[in-house]
Amino acid sequence: MYGSENNREDSERTAFRRAEKKYKLYYDNNASSKNKKKKQPKSVDLTEVLDFRSILQCHLQNGALPPGVIVLHDKFTSPVFSLQNHPGFYFIPGALNVEKQCSLIRESLVDFPQPPNRTNHNAMYGPVQDVFVAAKEGKVLVEDNSDSPKGWKFTTEKDASLRKCRSVSGSALLRKLRWSTLGLQFDWSKRNYEVSLPHNKIPDALCELAKQLAKPALPAGVEFRPEGAIVNYFGLGDTLGGHLDDMEADWSKPIVSLSLGCKAIFLLGGKSREDTPLAMFLRSGDVVLMARDARECFHGVPRIFTDKENAEIGHLETQLTHEDDLCFLKYIQTSRININIRQVF
Ligand code: OGA
Ligand code: MN
Repeated sequence: MYGSENNREDSERTAFRRAEKKYKLYYDNNASSKNKKKKQPKSVDLTEVLDFRSILQCHLQNGALPPGVIVLHDKFTSPVFSLQNHPGFYFIPGALNVEKQCSLIRESLVDFPQPPNRTNHNAMYGPVQDVFVAAKEGKVLVEDNSDSPKGWKFTTEKDASLRKCRSVSGSALLRKLRWSTLGLQFDWSKRNYEVSLPHNKIPDALCELAKQLAKPALPAGVEFRPEGAIVNYFGLGDTLGGHLDDMEADWSKPIVSLSLGCKAIFLLGGKSREDTPLAMFLRSGDVVLMARDARECFHGVPRIFTDKENAEIGHLETQLTHEDDLCFLKYIQTSRININIRQVF
């Protein structure tokens, strides 16, 4: 999606690509006997994956830190970790409490994909309102050529079946939602911010949260101005290929990246795809900051874990119990959402 893999033949051979392959979801379908139908995920060796939650626990217990890991104590947030070999990279495990995680999950599904914010569905259907509600209510998007203006609209399943026109269910659209953009709109075809596109400001609460979280990556008194955000939605098997975030003007400013839902593996590489990346777990509530040198480092998400044992979303399951929340719970049980907030100029 970042158009960074056009040189595919070469990238197959890089250290970054090899790490992606190591952690990516593959299935064992040498289907020996009766289990032919049920595909089993191939087991992955996770022993080299850095786990900042357990690093935090050990550190709080006895002050210990693994080699190469540095801790900063900040009076506003939980401890902030950084890495000797990656100046400008910061990891704040569990920075978002469970209530904040839930409200961001709701917003990411209901509000953030609303026009004028763009999503991956714009290219095919134009602006689409209320995808999450439509999915919940069993609505169907139909191509309506009779009305003016022409376009795609949600209708009931019954009405859709009577029309002889192209259609797609709301639930399929929700399942295939891959990104939405807040604030200044990013144009994926040009890999650039398109300032002429209509847009709303990033919501105030998210803006304030990002400003607060950005502090450990900035010198005292320097402000972070959130101007654009990309929201990524991951389902089983979805990945984010190795890329650089290099479309913003000022690389001293951090990208503030929030993780929600299922656990993932994040790869932090170097300035070349030949540098072997470091793998680390990202859990719901974790926050990553990438500033300065780290802005020039390849990174990506080769894997999310949607199985009960590894998703590690028990705290969300106990929180999202209200009847109105069950639709969010159902979605997030097999999904991950990443919100990354940027100062563009
Ligand atoms: C991005 C990105 C990381 C993540 O969207 O540019 O790097 O954790 N996301 O999903
Ligand atoms: Mn990125």
